[in-house]
Amino acid sequence: QILKVFVTRRIPQEGMKILQKAGLCNLSVWDSDEPVPRAELLKGVAGAHGILCLLSDKIDTEVLDAAGPNLKVISTLSVGFDHLAIDEIKKRGIRVGYTPDVLTDATAELTVALLLATARRLPEGVEEVKNGGWSTWKPLWLCGYGLSGSTVGVIGLGRIGLAIARRLKPFGVKRLLYTGRQSKPQAQEVDGEYVPLDTLVSESDFVVVSCSLTPDTQGLCDKTFFSKMKKTSIFINTSRGAVVNQEDLFEALSSGQIAAAGLDVTTPEPLPTAHPLLTLKNCVVLPHIGSATYSTRGVMSELTANNLLAGLTGSEMPSELKM
Ligand code: GLV
Ligand code: GLV
Repeated sequence: QILKVFVTRRIPQEGMKILQKAGLCNLSVWDSDEPVPRAELLKGVAGAHGILCLLSDKIDTEVLDAAGPNLKVISTLSVGFDHLAIDEIKKRGIRVGYTPDVLTDATAELTVALLLATARRLPEGVEEVKNGGWSTWKPLWLCGYGLSGSTVGVIGLGRIGLAIARRLKPFGVKRLLYTGRQSKPQAQEVDGEYVPLDTLVSESDFVVVSCSLTPDTQGLCDKTFFSKMKKTSIFINTSRGAVVNQEDLFEALSSGQIAAAGLDVTTPEPLPTAHPLLTLKNCVVLPHIGSATYSTRGVMSELTANNLLAGLTGSEMPSELKM
């Protein structure tokens, strides 16, 4: 029996080679760098045994119904899985593959880069050099905030959160706070102190969001949250945009309630170019590039393909999501 697989985007060749070599499946690929339109997705998955998708594809009941009873596996090229209707997928006995671990280092590096760029105002500085605003060396010009002696608070000390903490500590961070559902033994490695969210928010000079998006974390960073932050503190989010209430963030940034924010994730994505957040000098927005190194994307592509094949053949997946 030839197994039907729908791939929702052009993906790095490493993964495609694995799928082609396996010779197990009849591959149908949305061969573009742009997202598959919803109608094409619904058409493409019809009768599929496997779906290889991205975080930009919403896999909900409608898609599952469109796929029909053949569907055995969904393999997503991401560590996040908030785009998948997990309860419904579980109910139907469909297995899910994802890409934890392989993108931890790349995402942690990007988070550190974004934190430093935001705190030391790199995009503003680059802009001033280009537009002639750099008249001379000025003692009070383009000053920002440093990590040395600071308190860093990480919301969600998972694989990525821990990797961020490990990288920040050597910058001279004095206290490393974290919060989440429970304290973690691995926090010892970074001398992490498990504290309530309120304590973390009010005592940190840098608040770094690295939790997954769930009903519990949706809109977590709102008006009340920002009002507890210090006026000199910096907010960084490299997890999912929906953890933040962006109107409240805009208010906090424009009123001086907090010093600056660096975001690699927004709602929606892409953020419209006319969005109010993009008018602010103290807001650095990146286009969701946490895992974007050549090698990481290659390995993610391989893992996604191997997860898919294992799901199709009913064998053990390299990275199966425990639902
Ligand atoms: C990126 O955001 C991912 O979930 O892999
Ligand atoms: C997942 O979100 C992780 O921290 O790896």
